[in-house]
Amino acid sequence: MMDSIPSETPPPNLDELAEDHYFKANPPPKDLAKHTKLAREFIDFHAAAGRPLVLVTSGGTTVPLEKQTVRFIDNFSAGTRGATSAEYFLEAGYAVLFLHRQFSLLPFSRHYSHSTDCFLDFLKEGPNGSVVARDDDAAKMLDVLRKYRHARESNRLLVLPFVSISDYLHELRSIAQLMTPLGPRGLLYLAAAVSDFFVPPDRMSEHKIQSTNAVDPIKAATTEEVFDNFDSSPAVPRSKRLVVDLDPVPKFLKNLVEGWSPEGMIVSFKLETDPSILVHKARYSLDRYQHHLVIGNLLSTRKWEVVFVSPGVADRWIRLPAAGKGEADERIDGVIKDEPLDPRTLPEGDPEMEIEGLIIPAVKEMHDKYIEKFVRRQKKE
Ligand code: PMT
Repeated sequence: MMDSIPSETPPPNLDELAEDHYFKANPPPKDLAKHTKLAREFIDFHAAAGRPLVLVTSGGTTVPLEKQTVRFIDNFSAGTRGATSAEYFLEAGYAVLFLHRQFSLLPFSRHYSHSTDCFLDFLKEGPNGSVVARDDDAAKMLDVLRKYRHARESNRLLVLPFVSISDYLHELRSIAQLMTPLGPRGLLYLAAAVSDFFVPPDRMSEHKIQSTNAVDPIKAATTEEVFDNFDSSPAVPRSKRLVVDLDPVPKFLKNLVEGWSPEGMIVSFKLETDPSILVHKARYSLDRYQHHLVIGNLLSTRKWEVVFVSPGVADRWIRLPAAGKGEADERIDGVIKDEPLDPRTLPEGDPEMEIEGLIIPAVKEMHDKYIEKFVRRQKKE
């Protein structure tokens, strides 16, 4: 009998196999090549200037139920976190690549779109048939306009849209890989609300799913199969039911950290509705994916407070001063080690204050340290 020879072939990497399978099975968005070209030019321009660049993802991803999509499932997100964060990143000296859900909020225009007032309410007729800002709004509008123009004219803002979960993942992978020349100066700030479940293309109807069986005889006559996405025996007639059977979306954060962007700093968000599990879930995500920061937020209080969970340090709550009183604070203080910012360092009672104005400087501080550490380590090697 022959001795068995130890195989030299390494065991297959399951994350890479899942990635390979997902990206082959789910077609890329039609504009991927165009977006990739724009992203490459933008990234290379800022890499050459030695400027830090952040990829901000924003808005919800859709899960189409049909290939020619009439119906889809959506994830909650207006895009406020992403669009607001993008403005503060620009203010902090970053170039911003803003990958967002089509028609969700955008940096700068967010102040006047999707608001309860129509944008026309901010305008009035001026002299000689012109249109000007209303007196009460002019100062703020001028400030927003100047910042917007500066971002555009200095080529510091690139805006790219996605719609579905597979569009998002294709775009994210390509852009993250293009960010390689930035090394540690690349920052990924993943605020998009990413679907955890989807319909794989081989089980997706080509056409609009029918709500009655009116077309069944036509289909039978042409021997075309009647689409059916479930295999149970419904008690309610088929014509009245829609049972949607979703597969889990592979978790690509690991591939992002290890393969797509191994030198960049990666910040993910964790959204929960139950305060008692938020920090635990954020810490779990950090341990599992080994990235650099998870920002936890609750659906109900996300505009007032977030918690930073990062390796080797205590959880840090960041909170607007206005949220320093009331039920939400007491509830959270009782359960979790809480280190709020000192309210004396913040302007009091400013209605214009946004929590992203506190989040971004704190992220930048971590990113600066990350770059320093990376450079020191490189010098030693
Ligand atoms: O836009 P707003 O209305 O202001 O709302 C902002 C927000 C609440 C949506 C935002 O602050 C937020 O929390 N975004 C993340 C929501 C989310 O997708 O959480 P999650 O628990 O499903 O995913 C956590 C992280 O895992 C995400 O950063 C995502 O990039 C990543 N992920 C998720 C699924 C998946 N298949 N692969 C992933 O890598």
